[in-house]
Amino acid sequence: MLRRLHKEQPASFAFTPANLDWAKGQISKYPEGRQASAIIPLLWRAQEQEGWLSRPAIEYVADMLGMAYIRALEVATFYFMFQLQPVGSVAHVQICGTTSCMICGAEDLVAVAKELIAPTPHTLSADGKFSWEEVECMGACANAPMAQIGKDYYEDLTGEKLRELIGRFRKGEVPVPGPQNGRYAAEPIGGLTSLKEFESGRKQYNASAQLAVDIADTVKRIDGTEVPLSTPWLGVSAKPVKSAPKAAAKPAAKPAVEKASAAAGKPKKPKALKAARKGKADDLKLILGVGPKLEELCHKLGFFHFDQIAEWSAEEIAWVDENLEGFKGRVTRDKWVAQAKILAAGGSVAEAEAAAKA
Ligand code: FES
Repeated sequence: MLRRLHKEQPASFAFTPANLDWAKGQISKYPEGRQASAIIPLLWRAQEQEGWLSRPAIEYVADMLGMAYIRALEVATFYFMFQLQPVGSVAHVQICGTTSCMICGAEDLVAVAKELIAPTPHTLSADGKFSWEEVECMGACANAPMAQIGKDYYEDLTGEKLRELIGRFRKGEVPVPGPQNGRYAAEPIGGLTSLKEFESGRKQYNASAQLAVDIADTVKRIDGTEVPLSTPWLGVSAKPVKSAPKAAAKPAAKPAVEKASAAAGKPKKPKALKAARKGKADDLKLILGVGPKLEELCHKLGFFHFDQIAEWSAEEIAWVDENLEGFKGRVTRDKWVAQAKILAAGGSVAEAEAAAKA
C-alpha cells in the first residue's frame, strides 16, 4: 500500500507547552549526538496531539532533532501506526484482515465499517467522528476476529457486535475492551479446562482489559498534562505535570547546555556578515547537528562561513545559543566551534563529527 502525505496540509504545527516539555524530556534520554533516536516518541506525541501526522508536524519534529526532513519522512511513512491523513475525532477503527480474523469473519466487520463509517478506508465518516482501515495481524489471533478501536483491542467480534460498539462510541460511551463474547481472555469458549485454581482470585477483566479500564484512555488523546515526566537526570520528578502553577513549581535543575552558557560571561553577539563572501556560503549542514532550518537561521543571523563560527568566544557562543529560536543550546551541545575549526582548516566531515562526539 502506498503511504503518502495527505493532499491537504495545515499551515503549521507546534507542540503545546506541556507536550514540548514532555518532548524535551524524551530527547534528554539519549546521549549527545543521538537525539534522532527520539523520533518515534516525538512523532507519536505529535499524532496524539493532532490525531494524525501532517507534514508540518513531521518537519517540526525533524527540526527539533536536527534531522533532515527526508529522514523523518522515512520514519513517518514506514510505520503504519502513523496516520498520514485526518482520522475520526472519536476513533480510528483498525480491523484485522489477516488469516485467523479473515477466516472468523473479518469481512463482516469490514462491511459494517463501510456501512457505518465510510465506503472506503482512511475516509472520515459524514459526522467526522470515525475512520477505519484494514490492518495486518495485530497478535490477538486467538480472539479473532478483532479490531483496535482507539488504543484498545475489541475481540471475538461479529458484525453485529461491531455495529453495537460503534453506536455506543458515537453516543460518547467507551465500551470495555477485550473479548465481546463472554470469554474472560483466550480460554476455550466453554470455560477453562486447566489452571482452574486461578479462576477464583482473578480480577473483573483480564489484565489487558483491566488496564484499559483503569487507564481509561481508549479514545482519549493524551495531551502531555497527565503523563509523568520521568527525567530525574534533569531534576524533573516523575509526578504528573497537571496544571501546577508555574511559580509554585520547584524549579528544575538546568540542563547541561544551559549551565555551559551560564558559565560564560555576558552574552555578546558575534561579528555578523550581511551576505556570504563572494556570494557563496559554506555548507553549514556539514556541522553535525545542523540541518536545513538551523542553516537558514544562521544565515539570518549573519553567519555563513566555518571560519566565522570557529572564532566564537564563550560569550559569543552563549549569545548564539540564546538566539537560535527553537534550537537553543545547540552550539554548545553539538560543539559547533570545535567542528567549524576542523572544517575551516580543510578537515574532513568525519573528523568534525569525531570532535563533536569527543
Ligand atoms: S489474524 Fe487477526 S489478530 Fe492475528
